[in-house]
Amino acid sequence: MLHSARAVADSAAASLAADRQHILAGLTAPQKHLAPKYLYDERGSQLFDEICSLPEYYPTRTEVGLLRTYATAIAAFTGPRADVLELGAGSSLKARLLLGCLDRPASYVPVDISAAYLAQQAAEVAATFPRVTVLPVLADFTRPFALPETLTAERTLVFFPGSTIGNLSRVRAAELLSQLAERMRGGALLLGVDICKDAAVLHAAYNDSRGVTAAFNLNLLARLNRELDADFELDAFEHDAVYDQEHARIEMRLVSQREQAVNVGGISILFRKGEYIISEHSHKYAPDDLARIARAAGWHLGHCWIDDDARFSVQYLRAPAARNA
Ligand SMILES: C[S@@+](CC[C@H](N)C(=O)[O-])C[C@H]1O[C@@H](n2cnc3c(N)ncnc32)[C@H](O)[C@@H]1O
Repeated sequence: MLHSARAVADSAAASLAADRQHILAGLTAPQKHLAPKYLYDERGSQLFDEICSLPEYYPTRTEVGLLRTYATAIAAFTGPRADVLELGAGSSLKARLLLGCLDRPASYVPVDISAAYLAQQAAEVAATFPRVTVLPVLADFTRPFALPETLTAERTLVFFPGSTIGNLSRVRAAELLSQLAERMRGGALLLGVDICKDAAVLHAAYNDSRGVTAAFNLNLLARLNRELDADFELDAFEHDAVYDQEHARIEMRLVSQREQAVNVGGISILFRKGEYIISEHSHKYAPDDLARIARAAGWHLGHCWIDDDARFSVQYLRAPAARNA
């Protein structure tokens, strides 16, 4: 059963225009940068799904493999009638797998910033699982947002796959984990995170040979043109992704191919040749490191599953019991 998307709690979730100041601050900073959430409009979400099926992009198939292999254990940990809350739901591909293995899940609450895609995917999940109440929430999960009143923290399994947590700085990731532990007292968290590994494997995953990741990254400039009245020439920028070993993170860049001035929302932004905008960080975590951060944020480690090649980890964490329990 599908309930229509909730009213936008945060207008920045709907359009870049509402986030103009934040975007201009990033583009006029000494190191130009934009938040990765801006990569996801409808086209960005479609391109991300294409990335997920590329041979070089190991994270999706590795995480799906772990979820399939350990589905019975995950269902046993979770128990019956759970409310599944997914942060950054995207295609809900992994959520479908999860809903299929849990014992009579009560509801599915996909939270995403990509409005049209969220509505489409939620409708599909509702059609596949008619007994599950599907309540899509259009919101930016890095800001305070409202959840459906029907959600009971103790019965909630927060599902946060795709290593989306890696897009936040380490400090913001720890903060989000502690906010979630507090908000979801008595509940659980199933967290999928990419592991630090050989730089060549990471480089290939973020610089695929078909150029889909490049199209995904450049779509951000097309989006700025459309929604903020900018005039980026798309072929004057190139995608690049480099692995920063020191910070254990991939840095996705849009590199200016020449000296140029670009108008964004009435402000002229100058680019030197070779200067770049950082459009995404994707932090990688050793499982022990992540478990330590989660513990410090208040979570208790239930289990950690890792694939045979130690590429990806899925952790099952429990929040402390409700204060009045
Ligand atoms: C890396 S994709 C993961 C998608 C899916 N969960 C998976 O595992 O394949 C990140 C998803 O989170 C959404 N997203 C990114 N930042 C967000 C934010 N701040 N608030 C809400 N959704 C966000 C994007 O629209 C996208 O669907």
